[in-house]
Amino acid sequence: LNELIAEGVRGRYVLVRSDLNVPLDGSTVTDDGRIKASLPVIEKLSDAGARVLVTAHLGRPKGAPEDKYSLKPAAARLAELAPFKVELAGDTVGASAKEFAAALQDGEVLILENVRFDARETSKDDAERGSFADELVALTGDNGAFVDDAFGAVHRKHASVYDVATRLPSYQGDLVHTEVEVLQKLTTDTQRPYVVVLGGSKVSDKLAVIDNLIGKADTILVGGGMLFTFLAAAGHKVAGSLLEADQIPVVQDYLERAAAAGTSFVVPTDVVVASRFAADADHEVVSADAIEGSAFGASGIGLDIGPVSAAAFAAQIKGAKTVFWNGPMGVFEFEAFSGGTRAIAQALTETAAFTVVGGGDSAAAVRTLGFEDSQFGHISTGGGASLEYLEGKDLPGLSVLDR
Ligand code: 3PG
Repeated sequence: LNELIAEGVRGRYVLVRSDLNVPLDGSTVTDDGRIKASLPVIEKLSDAGARVLVTAHLGRPKGAPEDKYSLKPAAARLAELAPFKVELAGDTVGASAKEFAAALQDGEVLILENVRFDARETSKDDAERGSFADELVALTGDNGAFVDDAFGAVHRKHASVYDVATRLPSYQGDLVHTEVEVLQKLTTDTQRPYVVVLGGSKVSDKLAVIDNLIGKADTILVGGGMLFTFLAAAGHKVAGSLLEADQIPVVQDYLERAAAAGTSFVVPTDVVVASRFAADADHEVVSADAIEGSAFGASGIGLDIGPVSAAAFAAQIKGAKTVFWNGPMGVFEFEAFSGGTRAIAQALTETAAFTVVGGGDSAAAVRTLGFEDSQFGHISTGGGASLEYLEGKDLPGLSVLDR
């Protein structure tokens, strides 16, 4: 980015891909972490006199405008935080975008509506994506440039991430740069012990990352809904808890390979079991090998790791030199089932280890539970992107910039 600014951007249209995919409650942004993280690059370009066109997605609309996926709330929050004027176009590449873009003055910022309101954005067909990219690029006139600052979307081969970069002089934004630098520390010359905390609901979402961590991480602490598949793989009954029965053999294979590769999986020894999935459900702590023996019998649902396991996980985190955390330990949105997630977040703030919180859900969790970003080494803005980086996959949004 500094290279582009040194070349001079005053009066030039610079297309910036940001990740403004924030959680909403109606029209209220409930976690503005990604907006705050996107602001510095936009501000830097605005200060340098560029005419900034921001592209972003929100949610997964089906290729047509839908009110609930409008960038309006995100744009309004950005405008509140920004020391410069921010406008939102009524569409992405249509009449409104063209009109606003043409009227843009040096240093002004225009956000284009959700790029996913156009089906071509996510198309698998190169020509379709290309035609959308051409229309985005056309908004930048004849001397445009592209800055990719949407770390959270670098794993997507989408028009606004990938194809525009093949059409304009393209640069890495500072956020993408920092994220890559931090995640590199988790893949090369990692300070050990290296402890990984994995949660979230499904094992199937984490297979590739677990696969890649075996032999690299010293310890993998397992929480969240996926822990029940691990318990089932060890032969325990999990009552009505979330279970991916088809993944049991996969988990058993991991456990065997991990033992041989020097990675230990730590699965909770106690869990919080509830009568039903609700904030006010009756609940009790039971041993992880006796879930069906809870007061709720075969219909009990495990919604959090238990206090003994939370303390054991915290001790592992405190003894580590590097910690990566992805995925809540339980249903942290419900106070009664937030203890495990809170204990992990607390331990991360107390350890001397280098700590990285990855994934939209974990980032939202720590903020919802009242922690500050500054208490952690790094909170990644990337969910899927940070996992795919750790999986060692090629990330189209990064490799296209290298080219
Ligand atoms: C995210 O939330 O991880 C990014 O914004 C990417 O969103 P997506 O998974 O819908 O592509």
